[in-house]
Amino acid sequence: MKQIQMTKNPSFSLISTNKIIQLNDIWTSYDSKIFALEGINMSIDRGANYAIVGQSGSGKSTLLKLMNGMMIPSKGTIKIDYVTPNMNDKKFKKMMHTIGYIPQSLGLIKNITVLDNILIGALPRLNKLQSLFKQFPESEIKEAKRIMELVGLDGKENRKAYMLSGGEKRRVVIARALMQKPTILLADEIVSELDHVTAHEIMDLIADAQKRMNLTAIMVHHDIQLALEYANRVAVIKDGQKILEIGVEGDSIVDFQTGDMTNEEIMEMYYDDSKK
Ligand SMILES: Nc1ncnc2c1ncn2[C@@H]1O[C@H](COP(=O)(O)OP(=O)(O)O)[C@@H](O)[C@H]1O
Ligand SMILES: [Mg+2]
Repeated sequence: MKQIQMTKNPSFSLISTNKIIQLNDIWTSYDSKIFALEGINMSIDRGANYAIVGQSGSGKSTLLKLMNGMMIPSKGTIKIDYVTPNMNDKKFKKMMHTIGYIPQSLGLIKNITVLDNILIGALPRLNKLQSLFKQFPESEIKEAKRIMELVGLDGKENRKAYMLSGGEKRRVVIARALMQKPTILLADEIVSELDHVTAHEIMDLIADAQKRMNLTAIMVHHDIQLALEYANRVAVIKDGQKILEIGVEGDSIVDFQTGDMTNEEIMEMYYDDSKK
C-alpha cells in the first residue's frame, strides 16, 4: 500500500474547524444610533472555558445575548454550532434549549422550592399536557435529584429559593442549566457578588460539571484575575470592541489577538481602564 507523505507545516495544527461559536464582524445596536458592539470577531472552541471581561457598559451582556439568540446583530454573521440564530428556524429553536443561559439576575422563582426551580430546566422536554400542568415524569425528578447532589444541594430540595444564601442560589441556577442537558453554558457575572472563597467554590463546581458533561462554558466576569485562573481564553471588551484575547501559558500571559504585548502592558492596560 502506498503511503501518502504528509509535509509537516506547523501552521496547519492551528487550524481547527471545531468552533462552537463564531462571531464575524458583529455590530449591534439597541436604538439604531449608538452601537453597543463594534466589529467583534470571536471564535470559541468546543469544550473551551471562555471568559469575557470589561468595564460596566462595555458590551459583555450584549455579547452573551447574541450567543443565545435573544438578540440579532445589526451587521455581521454569527454561528452557534454552525447554525445562524433565528427564532423562526426550527433547528435553532431546538438548539436553543441546549444553551444554558444564566442571567446576571439569576432568574430564580423565589417562592417555589429548589427542586421546582431546577425542574424548569426540563420543561422543553415535556409534552404539551405535561408542560401545562407541570407534571414532570419520575425520570426527570430523579435526574434533578442527581444533579442536586452533583452541585452540593442534597437535602435542600424543599427549601424555598428566597431562603438560600448567595452561593446556594448560584448552585440552583447551575443545576437548572445542567437540567437542560446543555452543550453551551452562558453565565453573566455569576460570581461577581460573591466573596473570594465562595466565588472559587462556584467556579470549581462549573469546571467540574464542564469536564463531566463536555460543556463549552462562556462566562462574563468582573475580575480579570479570576477569569485568567479558570479560562483558556479571556476576551477583554472595551467600548464595544474586543481589544485583547489573552490566556495563561506556563507562567506568562499571552495575547492571542495581537501577540505583541507583554504581561505588564496587558495588566496595566486593564487596571488603568478600570480606574477611570
Ligand atoms: N436594553 C437596552 N436598551 C438600550 N441600550 C442598552 C440596553 N442594554 C444595554 N444597552 C447599552 O449597550 C451597551 C452595552 O451594554 P451591556 O452589554 O449591558 O454592557 P455590560 O454587560 O458590559 O455592562 C451600554 O452602552 C448599554 O447602555
Ligand atoms: Mg452586563
